[in-house]
Amino acid sequence: MTDINMANSGASTEKPLAGGVALVTGGGRGIGKAIAQRLAKLGAAVSICGRTEESLMRTAQELRAFGVRVHAQTADVTRAGDIAPLLEATEKELGPITILVNNAGIGGFGPVHEKSEEEWDRVLNTSLKSVFLVSRAVVPAMIRRGGGDIINISSLAGKNTFAGGGIYCASKWGLQGLTGCMAEDLRGYGIRVSVICPGSVATEFSGGGPKDPKKALTAEDVAHAVGMVAVQGPQSFISEVHLRPVRKP
Ligand SMILES: NC(=O)c1ccc[n+]([C@@H]2O[C@H](COP(=O)([O-])OP(=O)(O)OC[C@H]3O[C@@H](n4cnc5c(N)ncnc54)[C@H](OP(=O)(O)O)[C@@H]3O)[C@@H](O)[C@H]2O)c1
Repeated sequence: MTDINMANSGASTEKPLAGGVALVTGGGRGIGKAIAQRLAKLGAAVSICGRTEESLMRTAQELRAFGVRVHAQTADVTRAGDIAPLLEATEKELGPITILVNNAGIGGFGPVHEKSEEEWDRVLNTSLKSVFLVSRAVVPAMIRRGGGDIINISSLAGKNTFAGGGIYCASKWGLQGLTGCMAEDLRGYGIRVSVICPGSVATEFSGGGPKDPKKALTAEDVAHAVGMVAVQGPQSFISEVHLRPVRKP
């Protein structure tokens, strides 16, 4: 068992992630905020980033109530130039990153023939390229330390196709492939790369949210799955989770 996965599996059952450091992209609101809260509750120090300072600072304040160390920094995860300073400050403030949650993502729906090149770039850069950029920056130190968890937030749109989903599905199907290949690249180093595929979740995603929030998952449901993946035993690897609301939307 490695030092890092020891930190991620923890000694105490109440705070099994105590000693770990989690970076959650898009942690200022929505699913990312719920994930940051769950990991803090499990004892991890938490770093969050996003483009909007106000929501980040508010969420950081709420996270401190869990009694863990918190770092919040504005960073656009589509820009490599924002990521290096984010990692540097996180490691300086909190210590080595043991859990990376690639959560930041945006939608962009409608028939592909009506979409612009800018919309394609915006969605693909945010929901797919960012995972490459952030993971690439985090992985070398995880390899040196002999372990870690990378948890990517994909979607059931990464497993299915539907009208109007072309650009979003392309980003999430790409994320499924990226995750699977990274998992194979890194498992020999004790690093688990897993993917969570939620169905519809009640958030402000794409400025809207689900048609019927009563038939949607909550952000906390996704956070629960992330906690489960992060807390599993060091010899175990939950590689993919499909998360559906009980009632069909
Ligand atoms: N809601 C759903 O139904 C659903 C279902 C399945 C999967 N998902 C996935 O879950 C993830 C989170 O979605 P959500 O529902 O929580 O959406 P949300 O409420 O719109 O939150 C998105 C988060 O990502 C951040 N973000 C967006 N672009 C960013 C960028 N370039 N750099 C840094 N941060 C950025 C946002 O912060 P700023 O705007 O401040 O940057 C925000 O914190 C996404 O990957 C989404 O595809 C959502």
